[in-house]
Amino acid sequence: MIILGIETSCDETAAALVEDGTRLLSQEKATSFKSNELMGGVVPDKTAREQLRFILPVISKTLDKAALTSSQIDALAITYGPGLIGSLLIGVETAKTLSLAWNKPLVPINHLVGHIYANWLDTNPPLFPALVLIVSGGHSEIVLMKDHGDFELLGSTRDDAAGECFDKCGRLLGLPYPYGPFIEKEAVKLSPNASSLTISFPRPLKSDPSLDLSFSGLKTAFQTQYRRLVSEGLDPAVFKPLLAHELQEAVVDCLVTKFLRAAEVHPPSSLVLAGGVAANSLLRQNLSAAATELSLPVHIPPLSLCTDNATYIAAAAYFNYQPISPPLLTADPTLNFRSVIHESS
Ligand code: KG4
Ligand code: ZN
Repeated sequence: MIILGIETSCDETAAALVEDGTRLLSQEKATSFKSNELMGGVVPDKTAREQLRFILPVISKTLDKAALTSSQIDALAITYGPGLIGSLLIGVETAKTLSLAWNKPLVPINHLVGHIYANWLDTNPPLFPALVLIVSGGHSEIVLMKDHGDFELLGSTRDDAAGECFDKCGRLLGLPYPYGPFIEKEAVKLSPNASSLTISFPRPLKSDPSLDLSFSGLKTAFQTQYRRLVSEGLDPAVFKPLLAHELQEAVVDCLVTKFLRAAEVHPPSSLVLAGGVAANSLLRQNLSAAATELSLPVHIPPLSLCTDNATYIAAAAYFNYQPISPPLLTADPTLNFRSVIHESS
């Protein structure tokens, strides 16, 4: 079965053709990057206007790259939430129109579920029950996936998401947009001269027995330390890498500790990482090391499948094939994991 996936929940306009949920045939992506880079963040209405221009060329290039026509695809898959309303509407309304025009079934996909399926584009998919850590710009959740479409939400952030924490702190440091990857680049510049500086960040909720996460206190601590170092007139070339390094250590420590606690309480057959923050090298390394210690298989998407794209939307639709009548589908920016559990129960 060949599914055309479409993803426009944030600043990407992406399409991909995937066969049987596991084999990528082609993909194309346009990023509203330049204008957002200039503004230092996603500007929703500007992004949506760009996506309106991008969407049809992106879809037709995806078909051309695979040398397929619309008559050769079996279904369309579309992200219908969560995300920015203007951006979601572009993808959802385009997919509804194409579904009716081409007479192909339309499968709505929750973006967060989609992220998880980045791990199925592989010859060795995760075993159930899989314990999943989803870490993106807007969400941080620990989920037990008992089967396709069967999820139990074990914990989530009580305030900011891990990606949001990286982004806000990166912005304060004056790093380029998108901030997360630049925090990582800044951290590796850490120099021995920084050893005289003492910075220690809290690990919010780390020893709390719940499986919830919290990053807003960490962000505040980061701001306080940053202002202190600036006011002391220290060299930014020395303290910025140290702040980035310590922030990364604290975020990854909180994520891995809680994820491993979840694995103790709900012993899984595999560990799965998903979402944009899954691109972070320290998180990838520390999670792999922890999985080896627990003798559990760990699935970490290749870098190209961590941040938003349509490949995993098409894969998710294959394994959760529930087409909807196009006029009944509406974009829903407020979707979360609770919505998935509600839908599947
Ligand atoms: O999943 P995603 O592409 O978009 C959302 O669904 O939110 O995730 C984007 C998030 C951003 O917060 C970005 O800063 C973060 O992922 N991110 C990273 C890295 N690459 C992307 N955070 C830390 N280290 C990275 N290498
Ligand atoms: Zn995402």
